[in-house]
Amino acid sequence: MTFEIRPLGDALGAEIIGLDLSAPVDESTFAKVHQAHLDHLVLVFRDQRLDPQHQIDFSRRFGPLDHHPSDDAVLPDFPDVLVLSTKRENGKYIGLPDAGPMWHSDLAYRKQTALGTTLYALETPDSGGDTRFANMYKAYEALPKNLKDAVAGKRAVFLAGRNNANRSFKRTLNQTQRDATPATGHPVIRTHPETGRKSIFVSAQHTIAIEDMPEGESAELLAAIFAHAAQDEFVYTHKWRVGDLTFWDNRCVQHIADLSRIDDPTYIRHMHRTTIEGDAPF
Ligand code: OGA
Ligand code: MN
Repeated sequence: MTFEIRPLGDALGAEIIGLDLSAPVDESTFAKVHQAHLDHLVLVFRDQRLDPQHQIDFSRRFGPLDHHPSDDAVLPDFPDVLVLSTKRENGKYIGLPDAGPMWHSDLAYRKQTALGTTLYALETPDSGGDTRFANMYKAYEALPKNLKDAVAGKRAVFLAGRNNANRSFKRTLNQTQRDATPATGHPVIRTHPETGRKSIFVSAQHTIAIEDMPEGESAELLAAIFAHAAQDEFVYTHKWRVGDLTFWDNRCVQHIADLSRIDDPTYIRHMHRTTIEGDAPF
């Protein structure tokens, strides 16, 4: 199988043109997709028609699947598929309507964080709901020397946003889910296990403190890193169309959703997500 790789901008991201992910991907094609993912960090496959099993099968090529703590927001027959949706049944959201309110990397609060995430758009709004992706290799490389020195060798504390009762999530974790999702420590700067490149891993949604640092100093340093990492020069903004599948590398990418229309009852956005298990960051 042949396909074309079209970069989506200077920061990161590439469209893969000519691959139908509802059909099995052969070994040599898979190797090229894998390399494109390492090179471009976010892959976009447009005009797909995927059943949940297709999305699962493609995702599993990259490793075993992992699961979001919101285990009640999955497809009934496909627990590997998390539903992101603004739709409701009997007044209750059928999925997570507000995933990704702040910059983050998926499952960063786990000991083993996510390798990658696939997100497939089934229904998209006429406006709003973009996802922004930021290249954390570039952000690290461009980090001012004083900040680089301040965080060198440091570790930080990560906690699931939905654990935090102070945040206004539409669906939060219940006590059992919360208990299963304790805070975890990871390096502030991680090294990608496949490319060997360094990137910023702390993020606004999940990092609550730098270890072994006075609270005020830690908060100030994190705020400076978050502001640096979110600059436009590191970002690709994805405007969703029905049939888009995006596949990002959580080891070197952070992302954030535009939730500005979340309280508009006419706003419908409906997606299926899979998460591929990764390793413990080092
Ligand atoms: C996610 C997520 C962002 C979005 O599914 O991990 O952060 O735009 N989603 O829905
Ligand atoms: Mn996410």
